[in-house]
Amino acid sequence: MKFHVVASDGFARAGEMVLSHGVVHTPVFMPVGTQATVKTLSPQELLEAKAEIILSNAYHLYLRPGIDLIRAAGGIHRFMGWEKPVLTDSGGFQVFSLAKLRKITDEGARFQSHIDGSYHFLTPERVMEIESAIGADIVMAFDQCVAADASYAEVFDALKRTTLWAKRSKEAFEKVGQSYQTLFGIVQGGIFEDLRRLSVEEIVGVGFEGYAIGGLSVGETKQDMYRMLNVLNSVLPFDKPRYLMGVGVPEDILYGIELGVDMFDCVFPTRAARNALVFTHDGRLNLRNKALEYDFRPIDEECDCYACKNFTRAYIRHLHRSGEILGLRLASIHNVTFLIRLAQRAREAILEGNFAEFKRTFLSRYQQGAF
Ligand code: GUN
Ligand code: ZN
Repeated sequence: MKFHVVASDGFARAGEMVLSHGVVHTPVFMPVGTQATVKTLSPQELLEAKAEIILSNAYHLYLRPGIDLIRAAGGIHRFMGWEKPVLTDSGGFQVFSLAKLRKITDEGARFQSHIDGSYHFLTPERVMEIESAIGADIVMAFDQCVAADASYAEVFDALKRTTLWAKRSKEAFEKVGQSYQTLFGIVQGGIFEDLRRLSVEEIVGVGFEGYAIGGLSVGETKQDMYRMLNVLNSVLPFDKPRYLMGVGVPEDILYGIELGVDMFDCVFPTRAARNALVFTHDGRLNLRNKALEYDFRPIDEECDCYACKNFTRAYIRHLHRSGEILGLRLASIHNVTFLIRLAQRAREAILEGNFAEFKRTFLSRYQQGAF
């Protein structure tokens, strides 16, 4: 992998990441395809939305369909018919958020599958085998994520274990990783500034091609998240990509970019779309609103997505009220496109040296919210 910062504007950066399946222009929003599909969108539609990279998940694919099948299919790109870059998360977050009866020791994480209750034991070594078989361009190290209300001592323990696992992930990746893959480390440390600094020191000490910020957007206040991003911005290496995991929504993406983040992913845009909630330049809009019954405008006048170019709010509202699948698809296409465009526009603004103005203009309208 090759990454370089093309331009910066304040702390905001425009970068270029060359991966084996294509070039990614940062800042970038990565749609989430947990089960090797971005829910309701075909790869063709992802291309039309101009997605440059998508995210998938080692935890889910390991449990189902299993890595033997993905290996036999020739890796995730062939399996799902997506030729552009893919990033796989390691399962550190899913073990924490989904698995039942988990028991975490320095050796690894023992847990019960959320699907069928079967028992599993994941170690950094095993996760690297799994991510190698899946074959994503970017592989995440195995980490331990803790809840927002965890105590200092709990956060410290998870941080230390994450460092231990980062070292073991790197050693295992050097043995089993495919030559075209690249490994990113994950920083933990909760909402404690000193622990964030310590985690960066340790994870950067192990040495990775990129650094993810884990353990945020897990229920802490926005103020705490922004405070951590400020600290991290000052200590993460400038010349490596920075990925804020599990974020987000338009306002957080813009704050993240302002504080030096290059990559984002979040299930919210696709999940919200399936609940008829869409982003517009004037704030969030619920497509089930009675007020949209005779509204023959597109979801967003300025959006160039397939849904906005061809359909009205009134029609998409009707689809959602009738439980029609096309309604879910159109809302998902729109939300994914909206966030991809937001990151792209932010990039253009950075290149032109007016990111602060772009952010202010976007947020003043978005947060005023006509809805
Ligand atoms: N996704 C969101 N947060 C996290 C995290 O802390 N770790 C991992 N592995 N994935 C995440
Ligand atoms: Zn649209």
